Amino acid sequence: MLVKDLIWDNTLSVQIQEIDEDHRRLVDLFNLLNHAVGDDERKDYIEAILEELISCTIWHFRHEERLMLKYDYPGYSEHKKEHEELIDSIKALQQQRKQEGKHITNNDVEFLEHWLTGHILGTDMDLGAYLSEVM
Ligand SMILES: [Fe+2]
Repeated sequence: MLVKDLIWDNTLSVQIQEIDEDHRRLVDLFNLLNHAVGDDERKDYIEAILEELISCTIWHFRHEERLMLKYDYPGYSEHKKEHEELIDSIKALQQQRKQEGKHITNNDVEFLEHWLTGHILGTDMDLGAYLSEVM
């Protein structure tokens, strides 16, 4: 079973090109993970994609945080706090599966879909709207 692919379209755009580019990359990695799990690929390959998704997400969050600082975003602390929680939750999932010696499941992929789109469609839209005014 394959969780539906995430299709990039305008509904995911935060109207700031450099952030959209990062988000596209994350969506691509999510889809890669989704297919690898759906195709029952090797465990170490799936783990490598998850690790890449985590690394890219951390890098991307630092990027957003830099923009927030540069443009004096009033929601900086709250947004950064959400980033930290998101990283904690994906790392917790990674740790848990490692400890159990288990594969990433379709349920995990579904969890990650909400994990990713929830933040883009919520908190990042507010940031995008702000940056569109000031950049
Ligand atoms: Fe963000």
